[in-house]
Amino acid sequence: CTDFEVENEPIWGYLPGSQERTDLEAALKKYAGETADVPIMIGDKEYRTDQVMYQPMPHDHNKKIAKFYYATDELIKEAIDTAMAVRASWEKVPLEEKFNMWLKAADLMAGKYRQDLNATTMLGQAKTVIQAEIDAACELIDFLRFNALYGKEGTKWQPRSPSPEVTINKIRLRGLEGFVAAIAPFNFTAIGGNLAYTPAMMGNVVMWKPSDTAILSNYTIYKIMREVGVPGGVVNFLPSDGPVFGGAITKSPHLAAVNFTGSVPTFQWIWKAVGENLAIYTNFPRLVGECGGKNFHLIHPSADVTSVINGSIRSAFEYCGQKCSACSRLYVPESLWPQIKEGLVSAQKNLKIGDVQEYDSFTSAVIDEKAFDRIAGYIDYAKSAGNAEIIAGGNYDKSKGFFVEPTIIQTTDPIDKLITEEIFGPVLTVYVFPDAEVDNMITAADKSTPYALTGAIFAKDKAWLEKATELLKNAAGNFYINDKSTGSVVAQQPFGGARMSGTNDKAGGVQYALKWTSPQAIKQTF
Ligand code: SER
Repeated sequence: CTDFEVENEPIWGYLPGSQERTDLEAALKKYAGETADVPIMIGDKEYRTDQVMYQPMPHDHNKKIAKFYYATDELIKEAIDTAMAVRASWEKVPLEEKFNMWLKAADLMAGKYRQDLNATTMLGQAKTVIQAEIDAACELIDFLRFNALYGKEGTKWQPRSPSPEVTINKIRLRGLEGFVAAIAPFNFTAIGGNLAYTPAMMGNVVMWKPSDTAILSNYTIYKIMREVGVPGGVVNFLPSDGPVFGGAITKSPHLAAVNFTGSVPTFQWIWKAVGENLAIYTNFPRLVGECGGKNFHLIHPSADVTSVINGSIRSAFEYCGQKCSACSRLYVPESLWPQIKEGLVSAQKNLKIGDVQEYDSFTSAVIDEKAFDRIAGYIDYAKSAGNAEIIAGGNYDKSKGFFVEPTIIQTTDPIDKLITEEIFGPVLTVYVFPDAEVDNMITAADKSTPYALTGAIFAKDKAWLEKATELLKNAAGNFYINDKSTGSVVAQQPFGGARMSGTNDKAGGVQYALKWTSPQAIKQTF
């Protein structure tokens, strides 16, 4: 394989008067001013069905940025047949050629198409400029480049051949024998791209179900990948109703893997359906999932108060708390609470919640009405529960966009549902404990939810940091010491959690690309 080195894609600043800002504004104007028609893509063909759907802008839901169509059960089956027909020829394309395509796509995303990806993510998924830039530009580009690098490194490893004149041993990396179903979330455009295109890069064919609320950004990725030479049928773009898609893929004998990011109940549904259909499959389908979290910040009495306040505000409220990694439970010692409370409340007052196109907006709307109603339900619960008090925020309004004010709740019950259930919105629940009980809070952080995605501890006391880090070993797949629980960077903090948070296959890590291969060991004797 050709050698190449890669670096993380730099985050652009979009300063007033800069060319990048002018370009972004032009892209925003274009996408906000039209309703793009997004077809189903199977092989080289476009399809449109009579199940017409729209993607509204969450911050202004009367405006629709995309019209799309649900694939029917028959069309999904047709996509499977199409993919199975191109599978052999795609697998034959040397990995090196595939890596080069991925690197070329990353360059186009970093330059020519950067603002298409940012604008469609901002308008369609209600991300601010910076939140779109770190996702739809940097993280997506990093996934393509680093997975190509790790894929290349994976091909270099070969088994021992102690007597090569007599016997040569080799590993051949094959694609999986069947198709991969990629089921993507709305909250990161980059995750959609990674779920579908890393398996494809390693020689697989893919059925890609994008999220209804991320159609336009995901379709933009699809088009770029076609432009760099990914043949039709390798990745099939299949917006569809969840149960229809789930039913079609799990009932196909060719299902080889599911690459999923979404909710726990949906992932459990997939496991069950796969279990029920085991007798029909050619292989044991490989199930890779990243599900929910109820991520914690645990504060020791020795912690630096300013980093706790800044880190917790950013982690809990950036992108309205809709990152899988967002902090939603904060454990604070009594002695620090007056200062931390004051800091959180005054920071919350200064957060601007607005239009994604205004550069000073800190957050915008939540993704859709279903999310809005769920989050508002938890806020209403806090308003009426005897053991909870809203100390900041608490308002919501869906008349124009799905706006929920960043809300901070204090509870006196450490196992209240506000502390244990995933809300997936801008709601931070605080539990204040007597300083002497800080070690009990390690257990609370570890054991009061079924999840283990991200977590952070804040302290200056080195001995305690060491102890807590050891005791919290299984409490989070991504663990932060004196830093917020969000913002993992590809190839720096590979991302994923265990327990009910998923299969911990670490997107952005060195093993990820190889997960999508089925290695064959070959022994040749002379
Ligand atoms: N990578 C994101 C973060 O760490 C979550 O998907 O915030």
